[in-house]
Amino acid sequence: MKEKDKNPKTNKPLSNPNTQQLFKGLLVGVAGLVAVLMILLAAVMFFAFYDGSVEPGTAVASDSSIESKLNNEPFNGEVVDGKDVATGLVVGDGFELVRTTCTGCHSSAIILQNRFTREGWKAKIVWMQETQGLWDLGENEPAILDYLATHYSPEPPKGRRVPLRDIQWYELKN
Ligand code: HEC
Repeated sequence: MKEKDKNPKTNKPLSNPNTQQLFKGLLVGVAGLVAVLMILLAAVMFFAFYDGSVEPGTAVASDSSIESKLNNEPFNGEVVDGKDVATGLVVGDGFELVRTTCTGCHSSAIILQNRFTREGWKAKIVWMQETQGLWDLGENEPAILDYLATHYSPEPPKGRRVPLRDIQWYELKN
């Protein structure tokens, strides 16, 4: 043992080299254990919370692989009051097509909060195709437009009658 490792007053070793060794080993062991636990935790979190869906706002490429992936997803959702619980979309002709085509890039809420005529919906689709990377809907487009125009067209005003039109006036006779 070197002089500097001894307490100059008591002339006893400052610390036992074996104890130092043991302490180092213990430290490395604990650090390793913590690292393994963190990795395990990350894996568990991933499988518990990741459902394979695309976050709204995530840029999505408009390649056909995504299109086919979306279209291959089987629908086995819950339907309450004629509406799909997960998306809030009315379940009817063309629902499946709209659900798979229109909820890949953004939430269905963006559809639900809008009311357009068939022409209006067509214009929105063209806008998304020109600026947002929406692909050509091909032969599915008429069915998609039918669905949107049937269920999400401008509603007649509520709480007040529609103004009278084409009124047939007549003369009051005494
Ligand atoms: C390729 C991705 C993509 C697909 C698929 C897509 N959209 Fe969009 N859509 C967008 C983006 C991006 C926006 C802009 C979102 C924003 O403003 O936050 C948008 C906005 C909208 C809006 C709001 C437009 C406005 O004027 O505010 C509507 C309505 C809409 N989409 C309906 C649809 C319908 C219906 C479909 C299915 C035919 C569809 N979307 C499919 C990308 C997409």
